[in-house]
Amino acid sequence: MNRVLVTGGAGFIGSNFIRYFLKHQQDISLLVNFDFLTYAGNLENLTDCESDPRYRFVRGDVRDYGQVKQLFSEYGFDTVVHFAAESHVDRSITDPELFLTTNVLGTRALLDAAKEQWNIDPKNKYSQTYKPGVRFLQISTDEVYGALGPTGKFTELSPLLPNSPYSASKASADLLVRAFGQTFGLPVNITRCSNNYGPYQFPEKLIPLMVHNALLDKPLPVYGDGMQVRDWLHVEDHCAAITAVLERGLVGEVYNIGGSSEKTNLELIRLILRELEKSEDLITYVQDRPGHDRRYAIDHTKITETLSWSPVYTVEEGIHETVQWYLHHPDWIERVVTGEYQVYYARMYETL
Ligand code: NAD
Ligand code: DAU
Repeated sequence: MNRVLVTGGAGFIGSNFIRYFLKHQQDISLLVNFDFLTYAGNLENLTDCESDPRYRFVRGDVRDYGQVKQLFSEYGFDTVVHFAAESHVDRSITDPELFLTTNVLGTRALLDAAKEQWNIDPKNKYSQTYKPGVRFLQISTDEVYGALGPTGKFTELSPLLPNSPYSASKASADLLVRAFGQTFGLPVNITRCSNNYGPYQFPEKLIPLMVHNALLDKPLPVYGDGMQVRDWLHVEDHCAAITAVLERGLVGEVYNIGGSSEKTNLELIRLILRELEKSEDLITYVQDRPGHDRRYAIDHTKITETLSWSPVYTVEEGIHETVQWYLHHPDWIERVVTGEYQVYYARMYETL
């Protein structure tokens, strides 16, 4: 690992990963953040990394194969960490096509560019020999496994049964990554993690949305009965797990990453309200999300036993720290909730 391409590095997890990786991997000589800066991309998330001589930002679209190919030949990457995606389930319900083009076709463009750039005999269509040490890591999600009942957990062998256009697009991308590994011998890995939380998360997602609304004493929109369960993973634990896979993961393997922190949405919202010393009267039940997955839970035995990774944060510590972060960054919140967010919020919630 020396020259690293991070796609979608201006988003929530990508920006946390870049900060974590620059700090913990002193040996890398270059890290390029390739991001299209959609509504979810925010370079302000990375101002503290800009002075690092190893860091570069390139604005671009993963769907643009010509641009992606040019990027590979200009920088000679040996590692790709692919975060760039449309990531919000509710938006995928109103615009499935965008999720297909970005999440599936964007992944195809990156895979093809990596294959061409890394193959030591690219003119030979059957060549499966690549430069030493190269690796393509697809950042995926537990949502590709669908929904669980009250018991059990997703393992890497659980069937792929996605229920939303978002999760279907991520499952499709995962299958393409697998196919490039099987057909072309490209050195790939896939990680599938549970719900991340932490600093710099865009307030369309549950935790920052509830924090932001509660601070303004606005209603907290709970979908359905609020008894859906998510397995909360602090973003820093996620970054440590990705690093473990890049350093020690076996080529071709899938690794599940979870926080061992299951909570119902209502339990989590009550925890946030206690942190903020706000009333539970703000909780407002609204119409449920169509196709809403009832429960996710990750079995992370494989990465724990083979790569010695485990989550460090409890959800109580993580929520405390995260709420404190939002309280100490009012300017960041103010800037991200202007413009597009207001339009989105009105469209999404005012009819519920
Ligand atoms: P995010 O929405 O915060 O960020 C996505 C980033 O991708 C943004 O910076 C955006 O500008 C960029 N992007 C979008 N389209 C692009 C394009 N065409 N070309 C280049 N860049 C583009 O997402 P996130 O929450 O940080 O998630 C990152 C990845 O992790 C995604 O692949 C997502 O599916 C996966 N994931 C997220 C979670 C979670 O809880 N947030 C959990 C599991 C998996
Ligand atoms: O599980 C991993 C996935 O987690 C990632 O792949 C996705 O990119 C990420 O967005 C997240 O998906 P969820 O749909 O689980 O996250 P979201 O924050 O949208 O919602 C979490 C739960 O809270 C879910 O049960 C829906 C509910 N919810 C969400 C919002 C935004 C509400 O009740 N009200 C809300 O306003």
